[in-house]
Amino acid sequence: MYKTKITCLGAGYVGGPTMAMIAAKCPHIEVTVVDPNKERIEAWNSDRLPIYEPGLDEIVREARGRNLHFKTDVEGAIRSGDIIFVCVGTPTKTYGVGAGRAADLKYIESAARMIARVAEGSKIIVEKSTIPVKTAEAILTILRSNSTHGEFQVLSNPEFLAEGTAIADLQNPDRILIGGERTPAGDAAVAKLVDVYARWVPRERIITSNLWSSELSKLVANAFLAQRISSINSISALCEVTGADVDEVANAIGKDSRIGPKFLKASVGFGGSCFQKDILNLVYLCEHFGLPEVAAYWESVVKMNDWQKHRFTKQIVRTLFNTVSGKRIAILGFAFKKDTNDTRESAAISVVRGLLEENATVVVYDPKVPAEEIRCDVLGIDKEDSRLLVAGSAEEAADGAHALAVLTEWDQFKTLDFAKILDGMHKPAFVFDGRNILPRDAMQKLGFEVFAIGKPAAA
Ligand code: NAD
Ligand code: UGA
Repeated sequence: MYKTKITCLGAGYVGGPTMAMIAAKCPHIEVTVVDPNKERIEAWNSDRLPIYEPGLDEIVREARGRNLHFKTDVEGAIRSGDIIFVCVGTPTKTYGVGAGRAADLKYIESAARMIARVAEGSKIIVEKSTIPVKTAEAILTILRSNSTHGEFQVLSNPEFLAEGTAIADLQNPDRILIGGERTPAGDAAVAKLVDVYARWVPRERIITSNLWSSELSKLVANAFLAQRISSINSISALCEVTGADVDEVANAIGKDSRIGPKFLKASVGFGGSCFQKDILNLVYLCEHFGLPEVAAYWESVVKMNDWQKHRFTKQIVRTLFNTVSGKRIAILGFAFKKDTNDTRESAAISVVRGLLEENATVVVYDPKVPAEEIRCDVLGIDKEDSRLLVAGSAEEAADGAHALAVLTEWDQFKTLDFAKILDGMHKPAFVFDGRNILPRDAMQKLGFEVFAIGKPAAA
């Protein structure tokens, strides 16, 4: 019996886990994930997967070698695939028109051109990457004007998983969104993809729409989520000067069923590869379509986030008697959130960079981020710069420190041996909780000076 073949271009944070889930749930489908990045593919085929994600190892182990394959032969997999998912990166453009805002679609375009060049029959192309509205039109134009070998349908099927909970999100998604051309051939392609997801997702959670609604919904979903964080973070600043407690405010407003309790956790700022990039992309689109007021409205979400990160750094410097020069500052957490080793756009990068600019000695500990990723280029310092150190434990980072700052909400930070940590620190021992996870009262009783986001200062 013929087995449907799915090919996925891009073995990253989305391509790897998403395809592993499809393979695990659909043993009747052959899934091949391809990426020109040899090391990444080798890692996917090894016992040490390239990304850390709870539950991922198990589902990869279940399907790998059976109906899940990781390869570098991109062209071969395009030729054999019936459905081709495009999961390549769409970073913010760093050059030319739209630099700093627009999405850089060079990987999408080169994937489309490669498909047009090597495909020998009809294919369904699925945009899984997050892209600006109307990208499907560009992909279709490239495919249809460069290939006469078969019919192409382009579907939009954005991914809504969050890192750290990717497997649970894929297993039990709030919804699956599939957009397609509203033609008989488009409808047939949509139906084919619906059938894949329907193996484990209830039909009523599989939404279909036109292409443009689907493409735009992804950007809007991320913009709304990020907006909630910027909203509560803006209020955190007001709480600090009024004596209100941001967690109490979030709890009170979140009980209103129209507002809801999720995504109201004040923090040092949101990070991750997508929120900022996707909002800037939305801003660029609004400007492009002559809607400057709409653009400004959404851009303020990113501005508020930048302000929150800087505000946190400034708070550290101000509290440490206006100078951190030569002082050891322990940073707990470098990932952009717990349960991931991803550091892209992490608030920690901004805070560490700010402290290094003030000539502090910064000692970072993160349970999952390797030292070479902490010493990353975006910090703007020499790899050998002795002002940045990486510690093997929270205790080691804090030993001899003037201050300790929590930047990622790893569970293990909640239950550290704080008495021992206090012992090893300079006094006054300052603590800056950028995630509001530490036992503040108990730490204050021990003798720490604790600053926490959106919390009234200690009496
Ligand atoms: P990533 O950078 O981790 O992975 C992208 C991979 O694509 C890279 O390994 C790269 O080598 C590969 N690639 C580039 N061109 C290729 C080609 N022609 N053929 C095959 N492989 C190619 O990116 P990611 O985090 O997986 O994100 C991918 C897309 O998904 C982005 O558009 C992102 O906005 C979106 N998204 C990401 C998340 C997330 O949690 N990271 C969630 C939802 C949506
Ligand atoms: C986010 C969305 O939640 C996903 O639906 C989407 O698919 C994904 O972006 C994407 O398009 O890439 P992700 O960035 O992985 O997922 O993680 P989130 O849980 O959304 O957290 C993003 C950032 O916001 C983190 O830095 C987190 O610590 C912060 N955050 C989150 C808060 O500061 N407060 C909150 O209440 C929630």
